[in-house]
Amino acid sequence: MSNTIKVVVYERHGNPPDVLQIKTEPWPKPATDEVVVQMRAAPVNPADINAIEGKYPARREVPATPGFEGSGIVIELGANVSTITKGALVILPHNIGTWREAVAVKAAELVVVPPGIDPVDAAMLKINPITAWRLLHGYVDLSGGDWVIQNAANSGAGRAVIQIAHELGFKTVNVVRRPELIEELRNEGGDVVLVDSDKLRDEVKAATGGAAIKLALNSVGGDSALRLANCLAFGGTLVSFGAMSLQPLKIPTGLFIFKDLRFRGIWINHWYDNATMAERMAAFNPLFEMARRGLLKTKVEKSYSIDQAKEAVTHAMRDKRGGKIVFQFAA
Ligand SMILES: NC(=O)c1ccc[n+]([C@@H]2O[C@H](COP(=O)([O-])OP(=O)(O)OC[C@H]3O[C@@H](n4cnc5c(N)ncnc54)[C@H](OP(=O)(O)O)[C@@H]3O)[C@@H](O)[C@H]2O)c1
Repeated sequence: MSNTIKVVVYERHGNPPDVLQIKTEPWPKPATDEVVVQMRAAPVNPADINAIEGKYPARREVPATPGFEGSGIVIELGANVSTITKGALVILPHNIGTWREAVAVKAAELVVVPPGIDPVDAAMLKINPITAWRLLHGYVDLSGGDWVIQNAANSGAGRAVIQIAHELGFKTVNVVRRPELIEELRNEGGDVVLVDSDKLRDEVKAATGGAAIKLALNSVGGDSALRLANCLAFGGTLVSFGAMSLQPLKIPTGLFIFKDLRFRGIWINHWYDNATMAERMAAFNPLFEMARRGLLKTKVEKSYSIDQAKEAVTHAMRDKRGGKIVFQFAA
């Protein structure tokens, strides 16, 4: 085994392909309460791009290594670690920079993945599926048969919402901006899939038989978020968790007065940091169970090696991808 690792680093914030570099660091050594994890997979998420650009709220000190999530294999244990075994597949915490070949990390911060889940799938369970789980549990009391509406429904987060909602017996209206996605999302379990337009409210009414929609999930912002809000029933809740259009929310006063809508938000890193391990596992366990049945497999458009970090981020920043861009590391 080499005694060095490759690490992606940025020394200043800026356009990701311009500022990323590959550096060599010594092989990590575990402190007594740490283990060394050899990385297996780490995706390029929109938040990673924003963090490198310097547009993410928790602005990291530079130099920094990007990567808010990933999975790897435990290969060395610190002297006092007894809770985890060598060879375990683990999900990493979000504050260590996962775009690196290996990392020393506190054993208590790791989530052990049960057998039967592929490392690439495990690498993408922490952010989007956990967010989807929280979106469907943390805001509105939903019962079987209730409808939820979301935009950017073909995103990693949107597909997780579709599958988890389906599992829980909720129905989804899925709004996309490309008609070619309709059939694919219906096959993933989306009950209704519509292309975003000014006719959305009428189309939703027709497709749901005028159902009262209590929860809307917004990761686009701007006009798209307003169209979702207009589909909500009296007293409904719109939860925002992304702003892919980079447009602010525009909420007419009438939606507060005449419909008493509620506007909420989620930042999953904040939830995760404040959750106990038992609360985290209450979300992870059902997701693991779904993953073992072949669900929650985040679609991957292309895998890259860590040497190709510039190509990987360039690709990830393109619109209309067919899935995630993922770093894969040699086993
Ligand atoms: N708040 C949180 O804690 C949290 C947690 C998870 C995710 N998120 C956020 O959720 C969003 C989705 O993340 P992801 O990882 O699921 O993304 P992803 O898989 O990379 O997909 C990006 C999605 O955004 C859509 N999109 C891009 N630009 C758009 C625009 N101008 N108008 C409408 N749609 C647009 C894309 O549609 P096309 O395929 O048509 O290009 C695609 O559906 C991001 O904003 C991310 O930061 C937030």
